[in-house]
Amino acid sequence: MKTLIKNEKELEKVAKELVLKLSQKELKHAGVLALYGELGAGKTTFTKELAQFLKIEENISSPTFVILKTFDLGEIENIKFKKMIHIDTYRLDLPEELERLGFLDLVNDPENLIVVEWPEIAEQFLPKDRINIKFNFVDNTSRELDISE
Ligand SMILES: Nc1ncnc2c1ncn2[C@@H]1O[C@H](COP(=O)(O)OP(=O)(O)OP(=O)(O)O)[C@@H](O)[C@H]1O
Ligand SMILES: [Mg+2]
Repeated sequence: MKTLIKNEKELEKVAKELVLKLSQKELKHAGVLALYGELGAGKTTFTKELAQFLKIEENISSPTFVILKTFDLGEIENIKFKKMIHIDTYRLDLPEELERLGFLDLVNDPENLIVVEWPEIAEQFLPKDRINIKFNFVDNTSRELDISE
């Protein structure tokens, strides 16, 4: 499904809809949002909007040195997840490095919401039942999102 986003603020609505949908699924593993797209396409900006909906107060950054960051979630209506894990694999050379970071345990826990930027290198560890979003640059303020499950 393709959606045109005219500005950053519109990302919050999409983030909210998708996380509510993921939360309703009865999965035996974490809920996963895989964010595809080029540098500056809007993956971190989307994650910030998602974090805002999830009432995360800490700063969501493009993790320059940190590959994986965990945020505890409070009670949010219709959201079952207890933690959000934000991962950016851009600087990883090998998928095996994710194993060292304990990524497999994180993926196996249904209470986790995992948001992955640059998911390509992590694909072998990601559940098939997940939501993929491909961010495509349109112009300075607009993006096309191609959402698939
Ligand atoms: N509609 C929009 N959606 C997302 N980002 C937008 C939009 N309009 C403008 N932007 C700007 O585009 C930039 C997107 O950068 P962002 O860090 O989110 O990209 P990224 O996909 O995470 O890149 P990287 O691969 O480097 O992590 C930001 O500066 C943001 O303000
Ligand atoms: Mg980013």
